[in-house]
Amino acid sequence: MSKLNKKTVDDINAKGKRVLVRCDFNVPLKGGVITDENRIVAALPTIKKLMNDKAKVILCSHLGKPKGEPKPELSLAPVAKRLSEHLGVEVKFLQDNNVISDSVIAEIEKMQAGDVVLLENTRYRAEETKNGEEFSKQLGSIADIFVLDAFGTAHRAHCSTVGVVSYVDTAVAGYLIEKEIKYLGDAVNDPARPFITILGGAKVADKLSVIENLLNKADTIIIGGGMAYTFLKAQGYKIGKSLVDDEKLEYCTNMLKIAKEKGVKLLLPVDALAAYSFPDPIDAVVEYKNIDITDGIPDDMMGLDIGEKSAKLFADEVKSAKTVVWNGPMGVAENPIFSKGTIAVAHALAETDAVTVIGGGDSAAAVNNLGFGDKMTHISTGGGASLEFLEGKELPGIVALNDK
Ligand code: 3PG
Repeated sequence: MSKLNKKTVDDINAKGKRVLVRCDFNVPLKGGVITDENRIVAALPTIKKLMNDKAKVILCSHLGKPKGEPKPELSLAPVAKRLSEHLGVEVKFLQDNNVISDSVIAEIEKMQAGDVVLLENTRYRAEETKNGEEFSKQLGSIADIFVLDAFGTAHRAHCSTVGVVSYVDTAVAGYLIEKEIKYLGDAVNDPARPFITILGGAKVADKLSVIENLLNKADTIIIGGGMAYTFLKAQGYKIGKSLVDDEKLEYCTNMLKIAKEKGVKLLLPVDALAAYSFPDPIDAVVEYKNIDITDGIPDDMMGLDIGEKSAKLFADEVKSAKTVVWNGPMGVAENPIFSKGTIAVAHALAETDAVTVIGGGDSAAAVNNLGFGDKMTHISTGGGASLEFLEGKELPGIVALNDK
């Protein structure tokens, strides 16, 4: 999918209508305080548009994994408060452990054009993640129009993303969905070349389909993070007690072969920062060495970040790119010692004039924490969703919407 061939909020007349907007307000919280509000900020354009159009705006989202039970620490109350501050009007929080009830419906009936309310965490209802009929129907009953703007949850076929669509006349995409599909879609399917993808993260298994799909699209694939060691072992290097997935050795050998056949440059780390043990707690200071991969990582050590030469190699490669898509950290980014590779990649992306797209999750957090957010062309609000997009999969929430 590179073009969103779906109706959007620009194709509807929302005046005076009840518009249910599925957002992704699954934000990190510490002691009831939102620690990263990017997903809230990203939802504002659609909400403001509908308020200006004088719709009755009913927002909903999940938060965390309450597994069908009300969990006060996963209430969306803090999000309602933050939304009110951003919008400059009260976003009434319709707290109800059942999400929709007679009293919630009564509140919705009282809404005036331009009002905004927020429902409680949709995952307080056990049916939500099973795409159950009853809850889907209830969601549909409180809306004339459904808007999906939760890109981060568009890969989930749940009541509030997919099921509800069968119970409303009109289901369209919001501006965030439109923006995500434009940037991710153009970068992957119609990139300015050279097109470089940088993949990291712990496990090869998580990125199997991404690598396969990108081998058909990218000019260069850079692989760092814990997943690189399985590739290095497949090439015959000694990797000590680094993270490895022995069941994927053959897969890695095969991918290296396909890359060669297709003329795709596949770059792996040439050195690693290795330690004798994994830091515990995760930010603990441990003894480490920068070891060349050709020398082999000793049996009693594990690679926890790309080394200095690799960081330079990857950053130099980025300089030649016209499009860069990055997903996954280069090492244990939560640790000050083993975050250097991830920081080096973030710096390289911040400095290039190329189109830079950050595929959500840990790499998005790294870029934002370093204050490079505004230096990137696009930072996806989707973790799992952007990964599935990079795999070339259709996202069920988007598929369900009305065609253009
Ligand atoms: C995310 O954080 O990736 C989305 O909000 C989806 O959450 P989930 O993985 O719990 O479905």
